[in-house]
Amino acid sequence: MARCAVVLAAGLGTRMKSSKHKVLHEVAGKPMILHILDQLSQLHLQQTIVVVGQAREEVMSVVGNRAEFAIQDEQNGTGHALQVATPLIQPDIDTTLVLYGDAPLIQAQTMERLFQCQEQRQAAAVVLTASVVNPTGLGRILKDAAGNIAAIVEEKDANPEQRKVREINTGIYAFATPRMRQSLALLKADNAQGEYYLTDTIGILRRQQELVLSCPVENEDEVASVNNRVQLAEVNRIFRRNLNRKWMLEGVTIVNPDSTYIDADVTIGRDTIIYPETYLQGTTTIGEGCTLGPNLRVSSSRIDDGAQLEQSVVLESVIHRSATVGPFAYIRPGSEIGVGVKIGDFVEIKKSAIGDGTKVSHLAYVGDAEVGERVNVGCGAITVNYDGERKHRTVVGDDSFVGSNVNLIAPVTVGKGAYLCAGSTITDDVGDDGFAIGRGRQVTKPDYVKAWKQRAQVEKPNSLKHEGR
Ligand code: UD1
Ligand code: CA
Repeated sequence: MARCAVVLAAGLGTRMKSSKHKVLHEVAGKPMILHILDQLSQLHLQQTIVVVGQAREEVMSVVGNRAEFAIQDEQNGTGHALQVATPLIQPDIDTTLVLYGDAPLIQAQTMERLFQCQEQRQAAAVVLTASVVNPTGLGRILKDAAGNIAAIVEEKDANPEQRKVREINTGIYAFATPRMRQSLALLKADNAQGEYYLTDTIGILRRQQELVLSCPVENEDEVASVNNRVQLAEVNRIFRRNLNRKWMLEGVTIVNPDSTYIDADVTIGRDTIIYPETYLQGTTTIGEGCTLGPNLRVSSSRIDDGAQLEQSVVLESVIHRSATVGPFAYIRPGSEIGVGVKIGDFVEIKKSAIGDGTKVSHLAYVGDAEVGERVNVGCGAITVNYDGERKHRTVVGDDSFVGSNVNLIAPVTVGKGAYLCAGSTITDDVGDDGFAIGRGRQVTKPDYVKAWKQRAQVEKPNSLKHEGR
């Protein structure tokens, strides 16, 4: 049986009140339309078509080569959107699955069930339905005396009796392709919204004595759709709750799943513990036995086994085995933190490689640098990487010691085993095992303060007090 899917995504989604197309709004860090395409890809369909219209350049660039596109220039309704797609459907496609781009939680196995129901019963159409507590805004399923689906009525066209119906149209259908084409040709826009409703094909097919079935969804959460930002938050909540549950069942401890935000494409190893208010975003991968949070954001980074990260921000970087980061560290894009490294409090690392076993324990800035293994970077040490126009590199060799408050004026290279004295401003390269000190000499005047205070007392008796020293 040849199968295809058509996803309708031409309407901007006015109720979102957004300049961004509705299907590009994100659920767990990923545009809604891509969640749907991910599930569809598991079904190995012959064809996948996305109907685009408003903001189509943006939608097409996000979808890329994962679907073919049909263009609906004017948004004359869901039925019209599907009409626009039909010329693209290959002639040998037996079954067409139709879905809307604003319901991103649908699962592949539910769609498979719908396909099979259509194919086994040779139905003209199968409608996925749900019984919900609050059907407001959704199309209602009307049944005939025998209890079979007779038609779908939109809320705006429904009478008070019909509005009481709690069984709703999820907007997911499997059609026998030839029956779908025939019924679409008969649509009229004689309704409250003056649109060509896809939902009217159901009544049309029934009146033609075709077999139309309704198939109730097993889990209502899967068909939640997004028309406004309240529903976007609700769909995010459902998705995250399911995903957190999945990771817990895979062996990850999540101390409070309600305040842990894991994006769709993140992976996490066993025995990792995640404390509250942790955000794992983008394409982040987390190894086994890590300790993460509380209050942590990791975006598109690789965190290897046994790393411990607390109260920090890590962006597009790699943290190797058993390294510790934070509290209050900021690891910026392009950084690589070696095995067992300690990055302590109030440390910023930017586009730098920090060698295995090195310690940057507190209050330091390391940017555009390559720091070797087992180096100690003291408190207040800074790479002065920017001259106002360009960025320059700093290199520090293995086993070197960078004293507290050292300024490394880049470009500068320090060899292996070197020793940079505290408070030094290093402007020249230092070779292997070199010792460098670069600071003003101290001047000490014994008893000077006492003499100075006495002199002040004679000249202006109350001055010291008033100056508030
Ligand atoms: C639709 C259904 C309703 C169902 C609900 C489920 C119709 C007439 N109504 O209502 O029965 O209960 O979904 O969520 O089908 N679109 C186009 N071109 C258009 C109009 C819409 O591509 O001309 C796309 C939209 O971008 C969207 C989808 O179709 O992704 C659904 O449109 P929307 O306006 O959200 O329909 P609902 O009012 O939610
Ligand atoms: Ca909708």
